[in-house]
Amino acid sequence: MDLKTNFIGLKMQNPTVLASGILGTNSALMKRVFEEGGAGAVTMKSIGPEERNGHENPSVIELEHGLLNAVGLPSPGFQNMEEEWKELEKINFPLIASIYGANIEQFAAVAKNVALHKPDAIEANISCPNTKEHGQIFGTSEEASQAIISAVKKEIGKIPLIAKLTPQASNIAAIAAGCEKAGADAICAINTVAGMCIDIDARKPILHNKFGGLSGPAIKPVGIKCVYQIFESVKIPILGMGGISNGKDAIEYIQAGATAVGIGSGVFYHGIEVFKKACEEMEHWMKENNVKSLKEIRGIAHG
Ligand SMILES: Cc1cc2nc3c(=O)[nH]c(=O)nc-3n(C[C@H](O)[C@H](O)[C@H](O)COP(=O)(O)O)c2cc1C
Repeated sequence: MDLKTNFIGLKMQNPTVLASGILGTNSALMKRVFEEGGAGAVTMKSIGPEERNGHENPSVIELEHGLLNAVGLPSPGFQNMEEEWKELEKINFPLIASIYGANIEQFAAVAKNVALHKPDAIEANISCPNTKEHGQIFGTSEEASQAIISAVKKEIGKIPLIAKLTPQASNIAAIAAGCEKAGADAICAINTVAGMCIDIDARKPILHNKFGGLSGPAIKPVGIKCVYQIFESVKIPILGMGGISNGKDAIEYIQAGATAVGIGSGVFYHGIEVFKKACEEMEHWMKENNVKSLKEIRGIAHG
């Protein structure tokens, strides 16, 4: 059984990836997820253009089948990351840095700085709101997505670029194709799905920010559908995520067309061992189904 995965040049011991935003940017934590958790690659929390505290509490609620969060992209800002980078640069396993900005110039500035520290890949979180267009999410517009991706690509040279998409786009396959044209080396799908909860006794929204992003098991069918559609619209590889908590979920994403699979909320529910366990379950499924390599089943659901 072979779980080894080459994703945009990242040589991974298995296809699992820590999703962005789940365990911050701290090098010791990133190392634990790789060494103890067994992840194939690790994504840092999105780094922004300036220091940001994020939204007030309550900012995360646990629901029956998922999490609703409005942490609001808290970030030390790229200028305050220099000390942490000294440690992060010593990391000798696949490390993906995630970046965001509220306009093209901010994306470019963050990308330029982050690239100096040579992470193995850079993920552009274009699933965040655009200030110029009054909070519209970049990733819902083909034009805005392409503009960001080509601006970031220009700044980061040979470092592979992943475009992280939102399921809120009306045609995510077209957005993905546009990002590929603009220079993305891979697509990551999906970010959270917008949602809201009301405390009926208090008669008020529960999250301080009112609205949040839904993640975890509830969004798996949304992620699977997005990856399936993107697979038919691009040639570049896909990092699939949304609701993965075990090996069978990961196999489902791979059959939809994913090369690598991200786990975010699954870490909250099952701890960092979730990566190791998912890999064992994948191997078990492969053995039972006489599958020797994940390549044999990638995109197989397309018939
Ligand atoms: C608390 C929390 C914070 C997140 N922060 C980020 C972030 O900083 N950047 C980003 O691209 N995605 C962020 N995400 C989205 C996840 O990376 C992932 O795309 C999403 O949660 C779906 O995967 P999951 O169902 O496995 O959690 C965050 C998700 C959660 C739950």
